[in-house]
Amino acid sequence: MKKVGILTGGGDCPGLNAVIRAVVKKSLQYNWEIIGIKNGWKGLINGEMELLTDYSVSGILPKGGTIIGSSRTNPFKNGEDAQKIEENIKKFGLDSIIAIGGDDTLGVASKLFKKGIPTVGVPKTIDNDLSGTDYTFGFDTAVSIATEAIDRLHTTAESHHRVIVVELMGRHAGWIATMAGIAGGADEILIPEVPFDIEEVCKNVKKRYNRGKTFSIVAVAEGAVPKKIEEKNIETPDKKTGLVIQKQETDAFGHVRLGGIGHYLAEQIEKRMHVDTRVTILGHVQRGGTPTARDRVLATRFGVKAVELIKNEEYGKMVALQGDNIVAVPLEDAVQESKTVDKELYDIAKVFFG
Ligand code: F6P
Repeated sequence: MKKVGILTGGGDCPGLNAVIRAVVKKSLQYNWEIIGIKNGWKGLINGEMELLTDYSVSGILPKGGTIIGSSRTNPFKNGEDAQKIEENIKKFGLDSIIAIGGDDTLGVASKLFKKGIPTVGVPKTIDNDLSGTDYTFGFDTAVSIATEAIDRLHTTAESHHRVIVVELMGRHAGWIATMAGIAGGADEILIPEVPFDIEEVCKNVKKRYNRGKTFSIVAVAEGAVPKKIEEKNIETPDKKTGLVIQKQETDAFGHVRLGGIGHYLAEQIEKRMHVDTRVTILGHVQRGGTPTARDRVLATRFGVKAVELIKNEEYGKMVALQGDNIVAVPLEDAVQESKTVDKELYDIAKVFFG
């Protein structure tokens, strides 16, 4: 009989509940107790937990968000919190911890493992930027929502002969913008991996006008930056990084709040081309609501595999999708660097620019 703690950390994403359900259901086969730790690492610091039963996970498969809550708490920001985590693990008799999260949450799980705490990671993020896994759950849902938005923006852009800039999530990697941009037929896709040249963007829009297409859709990831900002002397709100930052204040993991690149771009396009331009920031719509069938299945497979890893005492690992197989990779490798958009994929997207 084991007592396993489970937590969800960082930004929520569709499919978290499907993982929790899978972990609880699979654990029931072994008669283990699953303890839901409230609001990510914060719950482990404060000792806020609840027993998750078959009843607690009933009906949650299609539900967005996370029934145990989430937060961006970094217990390693001060030594005291990390100490409290160790104490609470002992106090509540937890044998191991399943951490469901992105690079920040799993980075903490990796550090705890190095301190001797048995942890297992499950990769989640709509951004799909975690290494070691081909896909994270939540991404497919975000891409579907963004694609639908691009489809809808097309018809209104066409009717009004406008450029519509749609800003999508993606802090370090432009996976959502690239995939939804391809799926929705965006006329320009700007991502953090490839700094953009505003003149080029305008040239592409102009090319369309010359072909009689009096509207354009520009998909931009929130972390996209203009090219050679110093050389071209292009005004950007953040001179050092070129990023458009909504709030300079950083979270517990040192991230500023991005947002606003869409408005920046629209302004630049309008200034240069004198075309009516509008902006749609999709924001958290991409993260909320019910997961797609694909994300539900992936999340379920991840949850079952996480329990198997604990059964085999394979700690310090993250479950991952490689090809069509669910495998385990060292947590340390998964959190080392962000997985960015392949050049090959972006080159395919570029065929349709302009
Ligand atoms: O989950 C990752 C992410 O979607 C990033 O793309 C984005 O920058 C961030 O979350 C915003 O999250 P929040 O508003 O919760 O801080």
